[in-house]
Amino acid sequence: MGNLMREYWFPALPSREFPVNDGDVKRMRLLGENLVMFRDSEGRVGALAEACPHRGASMYFGRNEECGLRCPYHGWKFDVTGKCVDMPTEPEGSNFINKVRAIAYPCRDVNHMVWIYMGKRAEPPQFPTFEVNTLPPESVSQPNVMMEEANWMQNMEGDLDSAHLDWVHKRLHKDGPKPPFGVNGFYNPDPRPPKLDVVATDYGAYYSAMREMPDGTDWHRVNQFIMPFHTMITVGPTVSFRSFVPIDDHHAMLITQTANPEGPIPQAVSDNMVNAFDDVGGYIKRTHDPRSYFMTAANKTNDYMLDRAVQKDLMYNGIPFIMNLPDRAMTELMCDANDQPLYDRTQEHLGTTDVYVIAVRKQLLRAAKALRDKGELPANVSKPELGRVRMGTFVLERGIDWKQAVAPRLNPDNGFPVAADLPLIVD
Ligand code: FES
Ligand SMILES: [Fe+2]
Repeated sequence: MGNLMREYWFPALPSREFPVNDGDVKRMRLLGENLVMFRDSEGRVGALAEACPHRGASMYFGRNEECGLRCPYHGWKFDVTGKCVDMPTEPEGSNFINKVRAIAYPCRDVNHMVWIYMGKRAEPPQFPTFEVNTLPPESVSQPNVMMEEANWMQNMEGDLDSAHLDWVHKRLHKDGPKPPFGVNGFYNPDPRPPKLDVVATDYGAYYSAMREMPDGTDWHRVNQFIMPFHTMITVGPTVSFRSFVPIDDHHAMLITQTANPEGPIPQAVSDNMVNAFDDVGGYIKRTHDPRSYFMTAANKTNDYMLDRAVQKDLMYNGIPFIMNLPDRAMTELMCDANDQPLYDRTQEHLGTTDVYVIAVRKQLLRAAKALRDKGELPANVSKPELGRVRMGTFVLERGIDWKQAVAPRLNPDNGFPVAADLPLIVD
C-alpha cells in the first residue's frame, strides 16, 4: 500500500508552516519516513530525509541559507533537489561532492498547501487537478489539520459511513446546543438506516446514502473516495476535500480544504479552519516528534473533553462536535489485542450500512495487489483528471434513479453550483 501511495502527489504541510524564505526548518514524518522541510531563498519548498547522508546528523538543526540546507555537524550543504552544493570538509579538487546526494522529494506549494511526491520516478506524475488546486487561491481556504492517533485507513473509514450521522452526531432536540456542541448537529427524530448504493470507479468509488424523508422525498448524500486516501463529503455549499495522510502505520493527519467555486472564501471561514479547535484548547505544544504536530488538546488522554451533562441532555454523544473530533474518538480507539491503534478487522461484524467501507477496502486491496503482482497502476495516477469530481447532497422525488439524476452535478466542469440540498431535519 505504501508503494501505491508513493505513485501519487499528496498534501504534506500547510504553506503557512513556511511563511518566509530561508525561515525555520520543520520536521515532518510521512509514510514512515522522517523528513525535514524548508523554504529556500527563492521560495521553493524542499523535503529532505532528516538524516544527513554524511554521518546521519539531524538536518533539523541545519542552517537554511543561500538556496540550501547546511548540515549543522560538518557543514555539508544540500539544495531542494538533494544535490550536494558544498562539502567544506573535503580537500579542494575532490569530486566526492558529486557522489553524494540527500534523499529529496519534490514539493509543490499550491493554494495554501504544500504537496509532496515521494515516488521513485525522475519525472513526477502530473499534478492533481482537484478543484482545491485549480481554483484561484482566494477561493480556497486555509487547510485544517488534525493529527489522528490511528491507522489512516481506520480514520478514513469514518468518512465512508453515513449511518453514524444519526448517532454520533445526533442532537437530542430540534433546537440544538450552541458551539462547541452541536455545530451542524444532525437532528432526525426517526432515524431509520440509510440505504447505501455504491459505484466503483477507475479513481476509487462513490456512493449514495439515501434517507426517505417524511415529506415523500429521498435525500441522497453522495460522497467520494479518491485513491489513494482522499474523500469528499458534503459540508454546506462548498467543495470539501479531505486527505488522510499517513504519518506511519499508527498516525495520520486529516487535512481538510474547502473551496468555493462561486467566488472567494470568506476570510472568517479560512481563519476558522486554522483556529477551529480554539474552543477546546487548540493544539498541544509541539515536541521534537512530528506526531505531536496538530495534536489537539482534546484527545484520548482526556476522553476528548467528553461532557456527560451535554450527553445527557443535548447531544447523543458528549464530545464537542468540532471538525472530526467525535469521529476521531470512535476510530482511533479501535485497537488490536496489543493495544496498538490498528484494529484487527477479523474481529468486526460488518452489516448492511458498511457496504461502502467494504467497497473501498476492495478497491484499495485490488490496486495494491495489481501494483505488487503486475506492476499496474490505478488509472488516476497518469490521468489525475479522472478524480476531478464533486460530492453533494440531493433531495429527489421518491424512487428517481439517483445515479442518472446527479451525474452531471458530480462533474465540476459542468457549471453547476455545489449541490447541498438539506432536508429540514439537518439545520
Ligand atoms: S553529518 Fe552532516 S555534514 Fe557530517
Ligand atoms: Fe462524522
